[in-house]
Amino acid sequence: MSSPVTELPSYLRATTDAYDALAVRYAELVRGALDPLPLDRAVLAAFAELARSAGAGPVAELGCGPGYVTAHLRDLGLDVFGVDLSPVMIRLAREAYPGLRFEVGSMDALDLADGRLRGIVSWYSVIHAPPQEMPSYLAEFRRVLTLGGTLVLAFFESEGGPVEPFDHKVTTAYRWPIDALAAVAGEAGFAEIGRMLREPCEDERFRRGHLLMRAR
Ligand SMILES: C[S@@+](CC[C@H](N)C(=O)[O-])C[C@H]1O[C@@H](n2cnc3c(N)ncnc32)[C@H](O)[C@@H]1O
Repeated sequence: MSSPVTELPSYLRATTDAYDALAVRYAELVRGALDPLPLDRAVLAAFAELARSAGAGPVAELGCGPGYVTAHLRDLGLDVFGVDLSPVMIRLAREAYPGLRFEVGSMDALDLADGRLRGIVSWYSVIHAPPQEMPSYLAEFRRVLTLGGTLVLAFFESEGGPVEPFDHKVTTAYRWPIDALAAVAGEAGFAEIGRMLREPCEDERFRRGHLLMRAR
């Protein structure tokens, strides 16, 4: 299903090691994270409805971390599994949600047949891709999605500024202008369905961007 994480480029090795080291703390921090966020849940509900209309096939949360978004998608009625680079994250996700499937793998090289998925959620996980790698991540998402399949990207928005790295608590991450990320997805074979921008909540630093895209 997902590719074994063996020979990784150095930036993926750094991401894996950083999340492995902080996985337990991260999982505690994000427990119940969606509860106070109605707009975020609305995006996921829209995704679920659109994915259901895209025909047969499972959906995947890529970069699932401890798995609470995957479990939320399951609760929305989807046949869903999670993939993450970090073996510790995957162990925690399996322990927390024993009825769900979670696999170690990298979302830029998925062990999935072309067109296998009807939906992909990347919830704050492409944020760690170096900007020059983003086109190949999105090309891989397009490859494994069926025609008409739905993609959600959640990310930190750069509020008109350029794509820029910031001091994410775990490892280097990048903020994207929503138009720039939509354009990269467009070049990879996606048409925009809609977008949601929301202002940071009390304990957040940056505006949050959400793109809903359809594989064309
Ligand atoms: C900020 S966390 C988000 C986790 C979860 N989606 C959430 O919302 O809490 C980013 C996650 O993406 C994973 N990740 C980063 N790059 C990845 C890649 N190339 N393939 C798979 N997972 C990746 C990390 O290991 C980490 O668990």
